[in-house]
Amino acid sequence: MRELLRAGLRRLSAPVAEAPRHPDGGRKATVIAIATRKGGVGKTTTSVALAAALARFHGRRVLLVDLDPQGHVTTALKTIVAPTGTPLSQVLLADRGAEVLDAISPTSIPNLWVTPYDPNLSAAEDILGSRIGKEMVLRDALRITRTHFDVIVLDCPPNLGNLSLNGLVAADRVLVPCDPSPLALNGVHALVDAIETIAARLNPDLDVMGVLLTRVDGRNTTVNDAIVKEIEKTYGHALMPVRIGVNSDLAKAQMEGRDIFAFAPDSRGAAQYRDLADHVAAVLPALPSSQVTDSVSG
Ligand SMILES: Nc1ncnc2c1ncn2[C@@H]1O[C@H](COP(=O)(O)OP(=O)(O)OP(=O)(O)O)[C@@H](O)[C@H]1O
Ligand SMILES: [Mg+2]
Repeated sequence: MRELLRAGLRRLSAPVAEAPRHPDGGRKATVIAIATRKGGVGKTTTSVALAAALARFHGRRVLLVDLDPQGHVTTALKTIVAPTGTPLSQVLLADRGAEVLDAISPTSIPNLWVTPYDPNLSAAEDILGSRIGKEMVLRDALRITRTHFDVIVLDCPPNLGNLSLNGLVAADRVLVPCDPSPLALNGVHALVDAIETIAARLNPDLDVMGVLLTRVDGRNTTVNDAIVKEIEKTYGHALMPVRIGVNSDLAKAQMEGRDIFAFAPDSRGAAQYRDLADHVAAVLPALPSSQVTDSVSG
């Protein structure tokens, strides 16, 4: 009996060399959270278009993670996603060692993978609330996953709950969509406050990529100019050089369940989001040439 106990204690005290279930993929993704504390300003539209453009035109291996329980990424890409794998909620609630890689599904766009709609994500957010280290769960679950991609785009929900916090703790950069309305501007202020706290306490490397003006109606110049002036005054040069105008093709593409580059490649929305992707690609680390070839061939 005493020998059994001693053997048990030896096993417990020995360092546990856990073999990772997935091999290292040899890449180092930049994680970009698309977030603001305001609904309906174009977070999902931007996430989907940016992810698709980086995959289609820049030869990057891209993972688009739907952190919003509304599941709008899957709706927006419903004709090109074949949902497979473990639901993201299970990955987030697993004890340890689970990887987002278990929750990804391929799309018919070469180089683009997504985490599909998960009806249990909302319940998972509540359960996470009572866990120790709850803000770090996604970051840990991307440890190996990020070695398999060049870019990971996180489509965040419009509130600053546990899922958005996890997104901001896991992210390297945050892109903040804002339509030209006072309420959207308040959402940017709230998000920037949260980013400052998160950068001070949990993720010192977190950096704002920029504020992206979305749904800009060219006819509404007085309001647009006032909001742009306010953003410039408050956030200096944080405004992205590209603006996304109101374009009904973007909404129609979402209803059709295809990305804008397949649905309406010649539309203004496609051109502006392609411009945005060019700016984002320019600040990503360059790929070794061997990986460009790999990624282009999928
Ligand atoms: N530039 C645009 N022109 C026209 N319609 C747009 C544009 N951007 C987004 N929309 C439409 O506005 C609505 C809200 O956009 P989207 O779902 O991207 O916002 P969101 O910030 O992700 O919303 P939520 O906070 O609910 O997640 C959608 O119906 C979308 O098709
Ligand atoms: Mg959304």
